Amino acid sequence: MDFDLNAIERNFIENPFPVLKALREESPVHRNPDGSIYLTRYSDVKAVYQAKHMSSDKKQAFGQKFGQTPLYLHHTTSLIFNDPPYHTIVRKLLAAAFTPRKLAEMEPLIERIIDGLLDRLEDAQEFDFIHSYASELPTEIISFMLGVPEEFRPRLRGYSMAILGALDPVVPDDRLQAGNDAVVEFGALLDDLINHRRKNPDAAGEGEVLQTLIFGEFDGKRLTQEELIQNCIFLLNAGHETTTSLVGNALAMLLEHPDQFQKLKDDPGLIGSTIEEVLRFQSPLQIGNRLATEDFEIDGLNIPKGTYIHTSIGGANRDPAIFDNPEQFDVARQPNKHLAFITGIHVCLGATLSRLEGKASIGKLAQRFPNIQATGKAELNPLARFRGYKSLPVRI
Ligand code: HEM
Repeated sequence: MDFDLNAIERNFIENPFPVLKALREESPVHRNPDGSIYLTRYSDVKAVYQAKHMSSDKKQAFGQKFGQTPLYLHHTTSLIFNDPPYHTIVRKLLAAAFTPRKLAEMEPLIERIIDGLLDRLEDAQEFDFIHSYASELPTEIISFMLGVPEEFRPRLRGYSMAILGALDPVVPDDRLQAGNDAVVEFGALLDDLINHRRKNPDAAGEGEVLQTLIFGEFDGKRLTQEELIQNCIFLLNAGHETTTSLVGNALAMLLEHPDQFQKLKDDPGLIGSTIEEVLRFQSPLQIGNRLATEDFEIDGLNIPKGTYIHTSIGGANRDPAIFDNPEQFDVARQPNKHLAFITGIHVCLGATLSRLEGKASIGKLAQRFPNIQATGKAELNPLARFRGYKSLPVRI
């Protein structure tokens, strides 16, 4: 099948699913012209995430893509693009902030923020759902966890779009420049924040994650200032961009499937399975990567050590071998073992938090404004890796 992930165009970004279906059926272990492979079957994607001989270390790939730039420094220092032992150290330090007890403590804050946002929407009546609602809660929550002062919060979304946007398979020069500028500016801001926190270690409450990262130790090691800065940037980006997409994608899907929206309104108890279905059907992160560190075999094909692997999370989540009627959006789907948060040692650390945020955001919205409707065309972010809306005009 003639397809090159490194030369995708707008139509693939808008609607990759017909191509993913064709790949799954005709070329499930698809070789791109650069020698990398693109996997679209659930079993293959899952196997890669669970395999020991797969590396997340992107120093070589990002060296070629970014050169010695701030984007290179950022992405190669954050835990997501590293292997043990460094990955283990950062992950253990972060995990302390994401325990079930810590997250339970966040619930009243989440409810309070959403109630306040919904009050504001009531006054506005017509607004852009992404800007005025979907992005607000995740930004507030992750900023709270890292102690980012209010006056800086409006800038976070621009930074994360610029930094994460540079991870797309095809990146124009102006986007690279914007990404590099964002790392420098955001890094300077965090440098100040961390220094301030070092001098005031007892400022508990807000910013607890920052506290843990600065002063926490694992195996006798503390993070350096650079490691702290880059991992905080990553956490801030990971903490809100994908969750914004989850909330935006959820409303877009419910508006596109009014029968399913009605089902949720009739039975609010379906909110949990609705959020899982959105995660499956419109996964906020569509594509992942790994590097094979040993020769291995997939579907009878030999994949040599050193092969770069792209995993299609979006393709795996619509594999008919696992999901009945996979192209159907079904808010009551059970079971739903999607891979939106992947599996294995890099499984998303924020999965429980974003589920909480998604359920509260959409559940409360559907109750309070059941007649919400689109007033114009929704516009997707022009990215293949991250699937989410840039704007979604609505009226309540
Ligand atoms: C719907 C929302 C979210 C989705 C779909 C999502 C998805 C993912 C995925 C697919 C990965 C693994 C990437 C890889 O290794 O290839 C990941 C990793 C991660 N996510 Fe999330 N995420 C979401 C929300 C969050 C939130 C809210 C946070 C934090 C507050 C977060 C923090 C992290 C961290 C720290 C990692 C790195 C884990 C590691 O490398 O060990 N995520 N996420």
